Amino acid sequence: MEMQTLSPKGGDHNLKDYEKATQQFDWAEVEKNFSFYETGKVNMAYEAIDRHAENADKKDQVALYYSDDHRDESYTFADMKKMTDKAANVFKEAGIEKGDRVFIFMPRSPELYFAALGAIKVGAIIGPLFEAFMEGAVKDRLQNSEAKAIVTTNDLVGRVPVSELPALEQVFIQGDDVKEEGKTLDFKTHLERASENHDITWVDREDGLILHYTSGSTGMPKGVLHVHVAMLQHYQTGKWVLDLKEDDVYWCTADPGWVTGTSYGIFAPWLNGVTNVVRGGRFSPEAWYGTLEKYNVTVWYSAPTALRMLASAGDDVVKNYDLSNLRHILSVGEPLNPEVVRWGHEVYGLRIHDSWWMTETGAIMITNFPTLTVKPGSMGKPIPGVEAAILDDQGNELPPNRMGNLAMKTSWPSMMRSIWNNEEKYNGYFEFPGWYVSGDSAYKDEDGYYWFQGRVDDVIVTSGERVGPFEVESKLVEHPAVGEAGVIGKPDPVRGEIIKAFVALKEGYEESDELKEDIRVFVKNGLAAHTAPREMDIRDQLPKTRSGKIMRRVLKAWELDLPTGDLSTMDDD
Ligand code: WTA
Repeated sequence: MEMQTLSPKGGDHNLKDYEKATQQFDWAEVEKNFSFYETGKVNMAYEAIDRHAENADKKDQVALYYSDDHRDESYTFADMKKMTDKAANVFKEAGIEKGDRVFIFMPRSPELYFAALGAIKVGAIIGPLFEAFMEGAVKDRLQNSEAKAIVTTNDLVGRVPVSELPALEQVFIQGDDVKEEGKTLDFKTHLERASENHDITWVDREDGLILHYTSGSTGMPKGVLHVHVAMLQHYQTGKWVLDLKEDDVYWCTADPGWVTGTSYGIFAPWLNGVTNVVRGGRFSPEAWYGTLEKYNVTVWYSAPTALRMLASAGDDVVKNYDLSNLRHILSVGEPLNPEVVRWGHEVYGLRIHDSWWMTETGAIMITNFPTLTVKPGSMGKPIPGVEAAILDDQGNELPPNRMGNLAMKTSWPSMMRSIWNNEEKYNGYFEFPGWYVSGDSAYKDEDGYYWFQGRVDDVIVTSGERVGPFEVESKLVEHPAVGEAGVIGKPDPVRGEIIKAFVALKEGYEESDELKEDIRVFVKNGLAAHTAPREMDIRDQLPKTRSGKIMRRVLKAWELDLPTGDLSTMDDD
């Protein structure tokens, strides 16, 4: 089939010569863009907010546009400094210190951003939690990290099992009429009363900044720790990949509960001093196009599932909106189908630039730069400063066009520094000395473009959200009717993959639609809506290894009508 590429449009981009930059690049040079290069004093929040607020030319620029169905607000960099200083004082008065874990469990709102940056200002490690998490998921994360405080809302606090979390000392609630008793503190009132002057806590470049819990194929979610100096890569990819310039209005559609919503919804835009748009509430084509139009968004970072949903809403919807300011569109989180790239080019008149990275890598690693020719379906090329390769299962580099393990030479500034309380899991990424092995399979073509092929392990990516089958299976078997459960990702035209469960019922239970729905709701209420299986098959037995491990590989083969191999000699894999 003839491969149709999309040439760059031209224009004045922040990365003009990819080849040259790749040969000459040195991360140490990037430090010169930060005040810590001169002062030696490090804090991400200072570089993202305070530095701009202290600059007479920038302080009155809008830093944050926030809107949802009820609120419509804007904050300049000076306002953001004030509000994050106040939040920092609230935390400081409550006794939060450098290195303490402070979780943020709220729907998108300006207060979420004040709390996150305020906690960073006192040197705390923030732990963002997606608002859809239910009690079990919240508990696992707070327990594992021994969180000292959480900032949440009236609606969500019921899912924080405070009495079962001995390390948790403060529960800040944002909302009206919060009663202060026990560990509960009224965040809104404290924020209103707090002083606007705060002495920021300076930290080390390698001090903890943020803990994002993410899923693997086995075990409970792991706490991926990033440090302050990750800012070098957030900043630089903001320049090269998002092509941010000081007068841009930028919108990243991801929630801060996921890494894209922090690295590129907080750090990259503000380190680059651009106006950042946050839209709360649910997805609808009208709300999203309305947001692009209302703020004259110029740079838009979104995800394949959302783009596919916009595509399926029909090309007529987009005609009702003026998107003429939009100049750069990017995507992340799951494979971006060539059809979507072509559709985007037709409907928006712009290329959609795919980017590949992971919670663990902390920032963009492989991408289509504005100045690169796009091969629709390819993730693009590694950023300067990152060396990627395809390795075979022994750790040898494979030549072009051979599929294998997508890996990167260690290290880069936004690389995770540890898995919280789990050195063994952390070491698992580095079985080949000098390499980080991603868990994705891919190949590189003769021009150096990378092509995603799938996950090597059983991790499911549904609507761009990463779900570990083990966590879902563990919840499923807690249901009284479920004897055994195995969970796989089933290919889906809109969501990329959906979660499909295979379940063997306990004695005395009969299959029925009501029971299946009851099991689904049980997972939804116990973990999170996006982890609840959309499909469920009941089977008498599930395929197991001799040691009793459920073979997801066989479940997948059942689902896709593939040969399952000889099941009588099943070995542990
Ligand atoms: C997948 C999200 C194909 C991949 C930032 C990876 C992608 C996992 C792409 C990480 C892409 C991310 N094309 N697949 N452009 N980007 N992925 O940790 O399987 O939530 O390993 O990070 O998403 O998901 P995570």
